[in-house]
Amino acid sequence: MTRRRMIYEGKAKILYEGPEPGTIIQYFKDDATAFNAQKKGTINGKGVINNRISEHVFTLLGNIGIPTHFIKRLNMREQLVRQVEIVPIEVVVRNVAAGSLSKRYGIEEGTPLQRTILEYYYKDDALGDPLITEEHIVCFGWAGQDELHDIADMAIRVNDFMSGMFAAVGIRLVDFKLEFGRVWENDFARIILADEISPDGCRLWDMATNEKLDKDRFRRDLGGEVEAYQEVARRFGLLPETEGATVLDMQSHRGKLDS
Ligand code: TMP
Repeated sequence: MTRRRMIYEGKAKILYEGPEPGTIIQYFKDDATAFNAQKKGTINGKGVINNRISEHVFTLLGNIGIPTHFIKRLNMREQLVRQVEIVPIEVVVRNVAAGSLSKRYGIEEGTPLQRTILEYYYKDDALGDPLITEEHIVCFGWAGQDELHDIADMAIRVNDFMSGMFAAVGIRLVDFKLEFGRVWENDFARIILADEISPDGCRLWDMATNEKLDKDRFRRDLGGEVEAYQEVARRFGLLPETEGATVLDMQSHRGKLDS
């Protein structure tokens, strides 16, 4: 790694100071955690794939007018993004019952939801990221009422767009997590989409087989996590097609992925 100032190390990413003020470099690690880091592991090549998938999704979201922190991908594991003040909320968007929703409310996994559900969780590892309501967010000052409107609005737009883009490659977008940040322009703050969008923070089910193509393979010890992440990238045309070999050979494809 080059010598530069590390700003923050998270579970799956490291943030470094960017080349210009107001920019950050996001480095994608292969580390995977689940259940508030009680379960730890690595998924070989995950960082490279998530960097690519997130670049792809953020670029397309930018094209339809969603403001995002993404500037450009720098290399296999890094992207340049705008520095934001992270809103300490995880926004979960759900189209199909799964995971904690199924557990909490006793709804069978795979049940389509009649309405898209938005949930908010307070980003605090010590508290275990508790489920919160809009009232908590505004009362405790984590985001203002207007900001919350913008966040909910964008989350729904992102969901509509992403549901379509995944459906086009035969994948059901079951649920996913978004994070937002503030950028300051003079005295005004604007909310933009931040963090990453990848199989780490989405539930992606193959439409034909219901096979899980996301981090649930790791969370639930299903195996095949590398292949699942690669499959998502492959369907978006982000991996070089290889004759007979589906497993990404990090060495032989280094140049191609880096381009
Ligand atoms: P959940 O069903 O466990 O609440 O997860 C809902 C979605 O949010 C799922 O696609 C995974 C994602 N998620 C994260 O990205 N980070 C987290 O810390 C959690 C709990 C979920």
